[in-house]
Amino acid sequence: MCGIVGYIGKRDAAPLLLEGLQRLEYRGYDSAGVAISGKSGGLKTVKAKGRVRELESRVPKRFSGTTGIAHTRWATHGAPSDDNAHPHLDAAGKVAVVHNGIIDNAAELRAKLVADGVEFASETDSEVLSHLIGRSTAETLEARVQQALSRVEGTYGIAVLHADFADRIVVARNGSPVVLGIGENEMFVASDVAALVRHTRQVITLDDGEMATIKAGEYRTYTTEGSRTAASPTTIEWEAESYDMGGHDTYMHKEICEQADAVDRVLRGRIDDRFATVHLGGLGIDAREARGVRRVKILGCGSAYHAGQIGAQMIEELARIPADAEPASEFRYRNPVVDPDTLYIAVSQSGETYDTLAAVQELKRKGARVLGVVNVVGSAIARETDGGVYVHAGPEVCVVSTKCFTNTAVAFALLALHLGRVRDLSVADGKRIIAGLRKLPDQISQILRGEEEIKKLAAEYADAKSMMFVGRVRGYPVAREASLKLKEVSYVHAEAYPASELKHGPLALIEPEVPSVAIVPDDELLEKNRATLEEIKARSGRILAVGHQEQEVADHTIVVPRNEPELDPILLGIPLQLLAYHAALALGRDIDKPRNLAKSVTVE
Ligand code: G6P
Repeated sequence: MCGIVGYIGKRDAAPLLLEGLQRLEYRGYDSAGVAISGKSGGLKTVKAKGRVRELESRVPKRFSGTTGIAHTRWATHGAPSDDNAHPHLDAAGKVAVVHNGIIDNAAELRAKLVADGVEFASETDSEVLSHLIGRSTAETLEARVQQALSRVEGTYGIAVLHADFADRIVVARNGSPVVLGIGENEMFVASDVAALVRHTRQVITLDDGEMATIKAGEYRTYTTEGSRTAASPTTIEWEAESYDMGGHDTYMHKEICEQADAVDRVLRGRIDDRFATVHLGGLGIDAREARGVRRVKILGCGSAYHAGQIGAQMIEELARIPADAEPASEFRYRNPVVDPDTLYIAVSQSGETYDTLAAVQELKRKGARVLGVVNVVGSAIARETDGGVYVHAGPEVCVVSTKCFTNTAVAFALLALHLGRVRDLSVADGKRIIAGLRKLPDQISQILRGEEEIKKLAAEYADAKSMMFVGRVRGYPVAREASLKLKEVSYVHAEAYPASELKHGPLALIEPEVPSVAIVPDDELLEKNRATLEEIKARSGRILAVGHQEQEVADHTIVVPRNEPELDPILLGIPLQLLAYHAALALGRDIDKPRNLAKSVTVE
């Protein structure tokens, strides 16, 4: 959600900043802007509503300067427009600020500034920061920023440029990520390593309440109160190439196709055949503690929440611990009972989603033990949790999640197996699950080889008025995720229901223009699911079934390979990612950047 990039060094800043913005565009893409401190002193700014390429076309040929900051926006306060795009300047045009997050007391601060005669150029909450910094008379830029931040309530990741302090960029973080990139006689700053990885692999991730001053050849970090902090650089784990499209037309397609390799990565080095279990090095729970867990509560948002629902079922089935998943946002707003015998698990691709992070912080405040199932190493949720399982999906750039969803479900299978084997899961069952896990990459490849068939089906179903997705027990989270995928990327309305609930209301919607996708695995519920297909058919509904064998009642069936019943949900959803992708393609949608969405939602 919103991307920040900054550069200070010897090179021309503008091209580097624009390239960085392109790489961050998946975080927000309704407007963008750039500010450079020019050779002759003073700041030059260009802003544009729309995509980064719009901004690029407006940047003049002569826009030179070796220090600058830039931003790509996902609107919260004020509609997307040139004026509302960042950077925001102060009244004198000397301060430029880019901001991610939300200033909660912006209205109040704005009213005070207006009463003092300040004229605002935008409707954003962020602009108050520029004016507060611009009006500060403290001696250093650092002190001016600190003074401004002390008046602000809310979340921020900011980068500040000042014409009178042209040798530096000052950055600060509270709830929105800020990463410093260390180059040779040059420094970068960004909200995400994706913008840095082409230039340096050495990074420092700021903590909440931390600030930094970067100059061409140096950096220092300190708290918002001014005490120095010890920042230790780490190396970016993912290769620069893994952020490229690799010959595919969209990141979504690339990421769907990468899933066999991604699953291979999440399994690698973790299986222990001798004891029919898995090693999860970062879990931080010993066998005795694992036996003491009475309940598991999984929290996440969007696809992460759906992966958590699959995970909860796996934990119940394999470890026989009562488990459920809940949207992190709902959980944190309902003053939940925090129970010391419950193991809490926060799930997040980015490790930044604010609702999930806030749920973790609330749990920790109340003394709970919280694990993370996270993709981005060193992200906020990974750092806040007591331990966890990295998902190792590699960078996911498309706004809608595919490979990370699948890898998260596999990570949960590993966790469930681990918990099961220190409780009462038998060696035989442990071996059975391990054999199933090992089969997954080849089975995924097999499903992906059926893409042409799925493409034809997508063309047939893309004209639907709405689509109903149904599944029972293991199939239900699969149906929910498939329904989310379709609506996010194709904008076709879709609903997911437990198959058994259909007759309690939604059956009223069934007609030929409202086809159903039914998840029908060959498990103990097959006959029940078949009865649902009959119910739909009797109301003239078209049916696309996904299962392990052709379903006669259905108009079409996508057959996926059988695995162990507990692991089937991992595979059943994959053809439906392709269905959503090809439906969106047939409808001419902007696949990697669906309207109104952002990859990481770092605001409430
Ligand atoms: C946003 C994205 C979703 C994603 C959700 C959770 O809403 O558009 O695709 O599933 O955030 O993201 P996380 O990074 O926490 O998994």
